[in-house]
Order: sequence, then C-alpha cells, then structure tokens
Amino acid sequence: MLSKQFLKQIIFLFAFLVSPFVILSSQQSFAQADEIPTDAGIIAEGDNLFKQNCKVCHNIGSQLIGPALANVYDRRDLPWIYAFVKNSAKLIASGDEQAVAVYNENNKVLMTAFDFFSDEEILSIVAYIKDQTDNPPVEVASGPAGGTAVQGNEPSPYLNVILIGTILLLGLLLVVLYLIVSALAKFIRQRDDISDEDKEFAAQTNPFKLFRNKAFLGIMVAIFTMAFAKAGIDSLYSIGVQQGYAPKQPIAYSHKVHSGDYKIDCNYCHTGVTKSKNANIPSPNICMNCHSSITTGTNTGTTEIDKIYAAIENDEPIEWVRVHNLPDLAYFSHAQHVAVGKLDCQTCHGPIEEMEVVRQYSNLTMGWCINCHRDTELNTRGNGYYDKLVELHEQETNEPFTVEANGGIECAKCHY
Ligand code: HEC
Ligand code: HEC
Ligand code: HEC
Ligand code: HEC
Ligand code: HEC
Ligand code: HEC
Repeated sequence: MLSKQFLKQIIFLFAFLVSPFVILSSQQSFAQADEIPTDAGIIAEGDNLFKQNCKVCHNIGSQLIGPALANVYDRRDLPWIYAFVKNSAKLIASGDEQAVAVYNENNKVLMTAFDFFSDEEILSIVAYIKDQTDNPPVEVASGPAGGTAVQGNEPSPYLNVILIGTILLLGLLLVVLYLIVSALAKFIRQRDDISDEDKEFAAQTNPFKLFRNKAFLGIMVAIFTMAFAKAGIDSLYSIGVQQGYAPKQPIAYSHKVHSGDYKIDCNYCHTGVTKSKNANIPSPNICMNCHSSITTGTNTGTTEIDKIYAAIENDEPIEWVRVHNLPDLAYFSHAQHVAVGKLDCQTCHGPIEEMEVVRQYSNLTMGWCINCHRDTELNTRGNGYYDKLVELHEQETNEPFTVEANGGIECAKCHY
C-alpha cells in the first residue's frame, strides 16, 4: 500500500521536475521559428545572398552537393547555423556531433567558409529558406542547357553539298549544249539546200569557237588571276582573325550553366587570371570538387560527366580545343589587365556567362589592342606607383592619362 503511494509520489515529483524543461524546450523551437523574419525586404536580401553564395551547392527542396536546406531551422538551432555557415571546418574539428554527422553523410565534402557574413546576413538567408520551404516554387522542367540554341557559326554542311551539286549540274548542262550545237552544225553542213552565207553564219555562232579566240582567252585568264589574287589577299588579312570561332569541345561543358545559372566565380576555374600571363584551363580534378558528389538535379547527360571520370582514371588531360590564340610574336598578360587594369573579363570575352559554347568575341588584332589602349584611362587611384607619373603627365597636358600616355602603344610593350 505504502509502496504504491510512494511510487505515485515519485512519478508526480518526476513529472513536476521535468515539465518545465519540456515546456521550455518546446517553446524554444517555437521561439526559433518566430525569430526568423518574414519581412519581404529581408527575404529578398536572403534570396540575393543565397543565389550568389549558396546556390552552387544547395537546393532548397533536394540534395545537390550539400543537403536540401528546407526546414533546416527545425533540425538545427540558429546559433549552430551561424557557426556552421561561418566556418563549418572549425565546427567539425571541434567534434560537434551534428556537424560531424552531416559532414559524414555528405561524403566529407567540406563546405566553403563564409566568415565574412554577419549573423543578420545568415538570418536573412534562413528567412529566404523558410519562405521557400513554406511556399515551394513550382518546378519547371528544364535541362541544364535551358534551351537547345547552341551559339556558334559552324557553316551548314548542306551548303557545300548544294554548291558542289550546282557546279556539277552546270558542267553537265555545258556538255549537253555542246553536243546539241555540234550536232546541229554538222546537220547544217551536210545539207545542200542551204546557202554558203548561212553555212558560214552557222559555223561562226558555234560558241566554242570563242575558245580559239586569243583576245577572249586573254580576258578570261586576267579575270581568273584577279579572282585568285583577291582570295589570296583576303585570306592573308584574316590570318589569325577568328572572331566568332566556337569549336565543339570534347565535353559539353557550359559556361551558361556554371557561370550564368550557378554563378561560379571565373577565378575558381581560371586560377591564373589575376596572377599570371595565362588564365589556365581547369584540370579534371577541379571539376571533381563538385561532380564527385552531384547526385541529383537534372543530370541529363551523365555521359558527359563520365568523360571527366575517364580522364581522371586514365590520367589523361581533357583535350579542350583552344579558342583564343594570339601569335607568338605578341605578348599579352592577363594579370596586367585583370589585376592591375581592373578590367572585367566580359570587356574582352563578351558575355561568357551566357554562352553554352565559348566563342571568340573580340577580333584580337593589333588594332583592337591599340584602340583600347588609346581610349582607356589608367585606373591609377589608390595605386602609389602611378602618383608621380600622373603628376608629371598633368604638368604637361590636360589630356586624360590613358594607357597610351603611359607608353602602352610602344612596339616593345607587346612585341618581344
Ligand atoms: C562548395 C559547396 C557549398 C557551398 C557554396 C555552400 N554549402 Fe552549405 N553545405 C555544403 C555541404 C557539402 C554540406 C554538408 C556538410 C558537410 O559536408 O560539411 C553543407 C551543409 C550546410 C548546412 C547544414 C545542413 C544540415 O542539414 O545540417 C547549412 C545550414 C548550410 N550548408 C548552409 C549554407 C549556406 C547558407 C550557404 C551559402 C552562404 C552554403 N551552405 C554554401 C556545401 C556547400
Ligand atoms: C567550372 C569551371 C569554369 C568556370 C567557373 C569558368 N570557366 Fe571558362 N572555361 C572552363 C573550361 C573547362 C574551358 C575550356 C572549354 C571551353 O572552351 O568551353 C573554359 C574556357 C574559357 C575560355 C576560352 C579559352 C580558350 O580556349 O581560348 C574563356 C575566354 C573563358 N573560359 C572565360 C571564362 C569567364 C570569363 C568565366 C567567368 C564568367 C569563366 N570562364 C568561368 C571552365 C570554367
Ligand atoms: C563549383 C561546382 C562545380 C564545378 C567546379 C564544376 N561543375 Fe559542372 N555542374 C555543376 C552544377 C551545379 C551543375 C548542374 C547540375 C544539374 O543541374 O544537374 C553542373 C553541370 C555540369 C554538366 C551538365 C550536367 C550533366 O549531367 O551533363 C556538365 C557536362 C558539367 N557540369 C561539366 C563540368 C566540367 C567539365 C567541369 C570542370 C571543368 C565542371 N563541370 C566543374 C557544378 C560544378
Ligand atoms: C584585355 C582583354 C582581356 C581581358 C580583360 C581578359 N582576357 Fe582572357 N584572353 C584575352 C586574350 C587576348 C587571350 C588570348 C591570349 C593568348 O592567346 O595568349 C585570352 C585568353 C583567355 C583564355 C585562354 C587561356 C589563356 O590563358 O590563354 C582564358 C581561359 C581566358 N582568357 C579567361 C579570362 C578570364 C576568366 C578573364 C577575367 C578574369 C579574362 N580572360 C580577361 C584577353 C582578355
Ligand atoms: C579593353 C581594353 C584593352 C584591350 C582590348 C587590351 N588592353 Fe592592354 N591594357 C589595358 C589597360 C587598361 C592597361 C593598363 C593596365 C595598368 O597598368 O593599369 C593595359 C596594359 C597593357 C600592357 C602594359 C603596358 C605598360 O605600359 O606597361 C601591355 C603589354 C598590354 N596591355 C598588351 C595588350 C595586348 C597585346 C592586347 C591585345 C591582344 C591588349 N593589351 C588589349 C587595356 C586593354
Ligand atoms: C598593344 C599591343 C601592341 C602594340 C603596342 C604593337 N603591337 Fe604589333 N601586334 C600586336 C598583336 C596582338 C599582333 C597580332 C595580331 C594578329 O594576330 O592579327 C601584332 C602583330 C604585329 C605584326 C605582324 C603582322 C600581322 O598582321 O600579323 C607586326 C609586323 C607588328 N605587330 C608590328 C608592330 C609595330 C612595328 C609596332 C609599334 C609601332 C607594334 N606592332 C605595336 C600587338 C601590338
């Protein structure tokens, strides 16, 4: 009897002690959902930050490189999310259970550190994620290509077939005409009832007699020589000028998908562009940073991704076809233009982020280089190196301090 009473009391006491914790902890998760702003302005800011920094690796509703982020605020508390986004490696290294677990579940792909974000900024991204979780967008089926239009100007193969066909047909017509004319001429010569005058006329109108005419032959030879010379000169002018050149690449890699849709920074792949003469084409290992773990998505052409695997397994580089190619006699440095001159890639390469297939946008002639050097003012602000030069320049003239004024069109600057 007494023991039953005692048990009841213990249970009561236990419930009494535990209940505040239960209430508190359930309230905490409510409080967290409440903490996430629903203000349209903040959501828009989060949308922007997400597109620029996270979209490369995260979808809201499905796995990409990282896990789907829908409801992430329900399974993690906000301080954890701040810490993870700012520096996931640190959190994982500290042995945080949740961080280690999610890291292992995702093939140990390390997420980029975003230590430059403030808590408010991360909160705005979470607000955007919550907005997307509560109002999932209607999925629009579209491949990574987003369309089938492939830019480039490969001539249609039919064009050549039509051209050759036409020439053959014309030749045949000429032969037939010749046979008819000579048959008619023969017929007239054999007739007795035709006057000599008419016979002479028939012989004269034989068009092929023209070929025995020296003046006519002279003119024809002259015309042909001129045509050949013109074609020759034209082809000389266009040596090295390959504007619009857009060769087919061994892997259907798309700048539109990577740089346009997913906004991957050009430097991520073209690592040399701010440091050296060459921009560098990425090795297959760089592709694998992402493609070893992209498991879902539209993945229409897994055969294309297989080619990257093949290159790595066989230890062979992918044989990308070079698009831009200056002759050896000219010296061009990316670092000079991108890091020092602060020019955007697009100034010279056009809207690469819209191209399915890279094409040569500028003509890359000497005139192109020099025109820009004449017109472009040097960006000297904040660069101590230029202060003295600008001062000297301003004493002499009040023309703007262009690349040309700094000696940018001297032959030796571009020719060894
Ligand atoms: C380079 C790819 C990459 C980028 C960019 C990236 N993430 Fe991640 N993220 C991951 C991976 C991979 C994981 C899984 C954890 C791991 O492997 O470390 C992850 C995990 C997370 C988690 C934990 C998810 C969970 O279920 O616990 C959050 C939250 C997160 N990311 C938010 C962000 C935000 C916000 C951004 C943009 C500011 C961002 N990530 C950008 C790759 C990325
Ligand atoms: C994910 C990696 C990646 C990113 C990001 C990337 N590229 Fe590329 N880029 C490549 C690869 C691979 C090639 C070679 C295949 C080709 O030409 O399509 C290439 C080729 C090029 C070429 C032509 C090179 C030649 O052969 O002359 C230019 C120009 C270029 N990229 C500019 C850019 C610019 C500008 C950006 C940023 C808007 C950018 N790339 C972002 C991977 C990348
Ligand atoms: C920072 C991450 C990242 C890097 C680096 C990267 N990709 Fe991608 N790639 C993606 C994403 C995201 C998609 C779109 C996936 C989707 O929509 O299914 C994609 C799509 C593709 C596709 C079309 C999808 C398919 O299945 O056919 C090809 C081909 C491709 N990438 C090739 C490359 C090559 C080649 C490189 C290296 C030069 C590279 N990628 C580097 C993220 C990356
Ligand atoms: C001032 C014009 C200019 C700017 C700005 C510029 N490029 Fe180039 N780029 C060129 C020229 C010219 C070539 C051909 C170089 C050669 O053949 O030696 C080239 C070639 C390339 C190539 C082929 C590989 C190589 O290094 O020759 C890649 C990739 C490339 N550029 C990427 C970029 C990226 C990415 C940016 C922006 C960060 C950029 N370029 C900015 C003019 C420019
Ligand atoms: C869109 C404009 C633009 C084009 C096109 C361009 N350049 Fe330049 N170039 C600049 C600017 C701006 C600078 C100055 C960078 C600085 O030092 O601040 C520069 C500087 C240089 C320099 C260094 C000059 C010096 O005084 O030290 C060389 C060499 C050069 N360019 C070569 C070339 C060649 C070769 C081409 C053509 C293949 C070319 N540039 C095309 C804008 C351009
Ligand atoms: C801003 C850079 C730049 C400067 C300055 C420059 N060049 Fe050039 N030059 C080039 C480039 C780039 C080419 C290659 C053009 C091509 O392939 O169409 C070239 C080509 C040439 C050629 C080869 C002819 C041809 O059309 O292929 C000669 C010769 C030449 N330059 C002479 C000169 C002389 C002389 C000067 C000084 C008055 C000079 N260059 C100054 C960039 C420059």
